[in-house]
Amino acid sequence: MVAEALQAFTAATTVAELKQARIAHSGDRSPLALANREIGALPPEAKREVGKRMGQARGRVSQALKAREAEISAAELEQRLAAERVDVTLPTELVGHGAIHPITGLIDLMSDIFVAMGWEIAEGPELEAEWLNFDALNIPRDHPARTMQDTLFVDPPESNRVLRTHTSPVQARSLLDRELPVYVVCPGRVFRADEYDATHLPVFNQIEGMAVDKGITFGHLRGTLEHFARSLFGPDMVLRWRPSYFPFTEPSAEVDLQCFVCHGSSVGDPDNPCRTCKSEGWIEWGGCGVMNPRVLEACGVDSSIYSGFAFGMGVDRTLMFRNNLSDLRDTVQGDVRFSRSLVGGA
Ligand code: PHE
Repeated sequence: MVAEALQAFTAATTVAELKQARIAHSGDRSPLALANREIGALPPEAKREVGKRMGQARGRVSQALKAREAEISAAELEQRLAAERVDVTLPTELVGHGAIHPITGLIDLMSDIFVAMGWEIAEGPELEAEWLNFDALNIPRDHPARTMQDTLFVDPPESNRVLRTHTSPVQARSLLDRELPVYVVCPGRVFRADEYDATHLPVFNQIEGMAVDKGITFGHLRGTLEHFARSLFGPDMVLRWRPSYFPFTEPSAEVDLQCFVCHGSSVGDPDNPCRTCKSEGWIEWGGCGVMNPRVLEACGVDSSIYSGFAFGMGVDRTLMFRNNLSDLRDTVQGDVRFSRSLVGGA
């Protein structure tokens, strides 16, 4: 019995096989265990002798089992280590780093142009008081501009807060917070219940600018935006001014950039289509105007002494134009390859 048990243990090569061998040769129902149980029935003289031999036999079997167990688990460990071996000297793939988002890059570039002229950067919250987004800017409650801007209101309505529809509330905030004169730019996210397609995003970016000082005129506005455009697009950039309407500026204008791809040559020429300006020759850039005295007064500024101008440009639109993008959705889908492809281009 002992010899059989030892042989079975040696034959086992895995933990599972050894378990089978253990049950068969030293378990409760093994011949050895059964024989052990018989001892009780033997006459007293024989009991002692047989009991001793039986004890030795069981001892040898259990020792052999332990020894084989140790061998097998060492071998299995050895095998696992060999299988999981890692060569730490192999060269690894370089871990990819992120990239500055092109919108962030362009906002920095735009802001720097104004900081270089001594302007300050102002910020305001994205969840804005309705009063600052509208009323302070001369857009009263029943004014069509409230619905024109596709405002996203916030629950509950009595919180009187909206997701700001433009960066213009920062005009009011800056006048309320700062000492005059004020020269600020405010870049930031704005929200409108708009389509999500290649040329519209419900969340987009604007950069607002405002100068309030003694003797500010429309001429200063023109000079400032021309400098801004030429710093971004080169010294030859031509601007076009179209009369427009905003409740918070009077007079108001919209500014177009001359298409820097076709320089207007695609207009009326079907053989020479321009994708960048859709053959219109111009690209709408933003709104601007001389500040309405009512806005100055609402913010505690004496409009008989001070005047100002303000403008607001779309950052995403500018990026699209400047980098010849075909789909604005690329700017919000978070693929780092998009950001990398425009690094240095913005
Ligand atoms: N807030 C306007 C818009 O979002 C743009 C603008 C800003 C116009 C400042 C005039 C002055 O359309």
